Amino acid sequence: MNVSEAIVGRQSIRAFDSTREVSDDLIMYLIDIAGRAPSGSNIQPWQVYVVRGDRKERITAECSRRFLEGDEGDAEYHYYPKNWRQPYIGRRRETGFGLYGLLGIDKADTEAVQRYRVTNYQFFGAPVALFFTIDRDMELGSWLDYGMFLQSLMLAAREEGLESCPQAAFCPYYDSVMPLLEAPDEQMLVCAISLGYPAAGALVNTFRTSRLAANTFTRFVD
Ligand SMILES: Cc1cc2nc3c(=O)[nH]c(=O)nc-3n(C[C@H](O)[C@H](O)[C@H](O)COP(=O)(O)O)c2cc1C
Repeated sequence: MNVSEAIVGRQSIRAFDSTREVSDDLIMYLIDIAGRAPSGSNIQPWQVYVVRGDRKERITAECSRRFLEGDEGDAEYHYYPKNWRQPYIGRRRETGFGLYGLLGIDKADTEAVQRYRVTNYQFFGAPVALFFTIDRDMELGSWLDYGMFLQSLMLAAREEGLESCPQAAFCPYYDSVMPLLEAPDEQMLVCAISLGYPAAGALVNTFRTSRLAANTFTRFVD
């Protein structure tokens, strides 16, 4: 697999083979590769927590409970704009309707939507949960660095036959997640990634999102 194949073929995987484990060595290998991502002045602002077994179950139980009780939580940073507007809301809707449409979920059916959304907190069946934190005194530039690290990890995973789903869904419940990770107060939760081998034949994994053509957002100004 070459780099462009890894990039173009990556998609968020939302059904994993929960019976197929990923070895510690392979997880460390991928994180080592991702650590080659560039960062301003090479400060490497990332901190990774690998979670499996009981601790993962506890995170699932606690976040699912809060979600199903209607507790929306309160993330420490705003992932999305406070006021949605075009063209972003349109793109968001296209993605949401596309996914729910594929799964046959009527967005007005709140119970069906809840049933689907809670699978986020089950890491979509993935055997490995990765949580990413950053020291809270780091600035915006380090968040830029962080994105490069995360994408590098997801691409390196593909070369090994693994797939992933990045997840901000845990951020509103950071006050449950961070203590379960035993993460210090100086750190903030950035996001999670579910990692594993994709479940064979899962309909949800056939969902392919669209992209804008580069000429719609690129100008040659020379
Ligand atoms: C930082 C980040 C957080 C995300 N959080 C979630 C999430 O909580 N749940 C989810 O199902 N998808 C999540 N996604 C996946 C996006 O919906 C997905 O990347 C987007 O729709 C494009 O689709 P693709 O990844 O299949 O190309 C997240 C993506 C990123 C980059």
